[in-house]
Amino acid sequence: LTDITSLLLSRIRDVADYPEPGVMFKDITPLLADPAAFSALTDALAAVAASTGATKVVGLEARGFILGAPVAIRAGLGFIPVRKAGKLPGATLSQAYDLEYGSAEIEVHAEDLSADDRILIVDDVLATGGTAEASIELIRRAGAEVAGLAVLMELGFLGGRARLEPALAGAPLESLLKV
Ligand code: PRP
Ligand code: MG
Repeated sequence: LTDITSLLLSRIRDVADYPEPGVMFKDITPLLADPAAFSALTDALAAVAASTGATKVVGLEARGFILGAPVAIRAGLGFIPVRKAGKLPGATLSQAYDLEYGSAEIEVHAEDLSADDRILIVDDVLATGGTAEASIELIRRAGAEVAGLAVLMELGFLGGRARLEPALAGAPLESLLKV
């Protein structure tokens, strides 16, 4: 393990049986509370933004906002929120996606994305890939290009990476930790 990998891992708390029995929740609040770890995480994700040639950073509500906004600032790029439905006041594009039980919908302000943009999507966790897949679809429908997807953590056993392969169409998926 590299120094940064060990640092980040040491600041993620495993919480058993949350939010329901059988689930091991990855709590990033200890990482956020440690300025050295949060800053190292921000540097690592900003380096991905630079290497992909991104022109803007999209963060996925809610934890993707916490990680994505400082990445945008550090990379010198604008930040665009992809929100859960019903929170954005302007003209939006919406994308529905399936959850384990039921469905959800995310939205973006259409005017925030143009054909000139290359977008780095930032989130904390890649699990089944449903949220990320919907955000990729949303960005493409807005006319922008997806430069890549960067996450702190990838839960490999859920198969999100394979699911996203067609949607990413060759754009990189960078995960700092595979757990
Ligand atoms: C969590 C996590 C990712 C998503 C990953 O978000 O932050 O965004 O699930 O799961 P998936 O790959 O199976 O789609 P969630 O909406 O649960 O909570 P949040 O609002 O705290 O980010
Ligand atoms: Mg989330």
